[in-house]
Amino acid sequence: MCTGSIRQGGGALEDIVSVTPVGEPRQKITIASLREKKLQHQPITCLTAYDYPSARLVDEAAIDIVLVGDSLAMTMLGYPDTLSVTVEEMLHHTKAVRRGVKHALLAADMPYGSYHIGADDALRNAARFVKEAGAEVLKIEGGEKRADLIRRVIDAEIPVAGHIGLTPQSVNVMGGYKVQGKSLAAIEQLMRDAVALDRAGVAFLVLEGIPREVAAMITEEVATPTIGIGAGPECDGQVLVFHDILNLTFMQPAKFVRRYGDAAALITDAVHAFQENVVSHQYPADSESYHLSKETQQALETVLERKRGMRR
Ligand code: KIV
Repeated sequence: MCTGSIRQGGGALEDIVSVTPVGEPRQKITIASLREKKLQHQPITCLTAYDYPSARLVDEAAIDIVLVGDSLAMTMLGYPDTLSVTVEEMLHHTKAVRRGVKHALLAADMPYGSYHIGADDALRNAARFVKEAGAEVLKIEGGEKRADLIRRVIDAEIPVAGHIGLTPQSVNVMGGYKVQGKSLAAIEQLMRDAVALDRAGVAFLVLEGIPREVAAMITEEVATPTIGIGAGPECDGQVLVFHDILNLTFMQPAKFVRRYGDAAALITDAVHAFQENVVSHQYPADSESYHLSKETQQALETVLERKRGMRR
């Protein structure tokens, strides 16, 4: 078994391997500081993270909100959509992210089925995300029709983020992942949804897959910060999926995704190089091996020599 003492990057060495530049101490991001950013017209940043290393990297890059999105159903677990991911799976990933986040606001998605059965069941599930996994905000999909439930969760001292527009948990009702809010009636409904959630007191409001003009109107109308994904530049902030910006999804990206790196190429190259090095006896080198001391080596040779002599 390998012990922590000979391995770089283990939990015990986490302060030594920090990538945080030395300088200004960062402030903890709170719901109040997000509101302040909206008032000051300072863009809010949000990225998903689903495990300890991605959480650390995102947090240490000064992102404001780390979201344990139920998109982990696809990105981490290989499910076809977000519908099958369970509370237990979401809690497992949220706990890992919690250990990696120090300054960002930690939000987590309530998965499909965890708040649809009844308010008491929703409250019980919500409390688990706070008590067991350390989530600071829970995101619930749906507009006007969720306002009463959201109020009850907030009454239980659990901050809630809203999510309207293209809500992936409604994929079967929407008949696919389609841009929402394109007709006058749909725009009116989206405005009603946004205002209802704002009045219910959401910590922030995710606007997904809606025309930028509609997102701009909502952003202007509500006091809560709006965080857009495929909703144009007028939102108070932007969120993207970690795996999308790094080319780790194995699929064509949506129109709004900008790729900032190619982790798939990086990982593939590294794995191929390792495979080739091992089969060609180039790994490990002598410098990557542990050695006996000279004295122990000599003593060992003496013992072996004696054994060989006895066998003759
Ligand atoms: O699950 C998720 O990743 C999300 C964001 C894309 C907003 O809900």
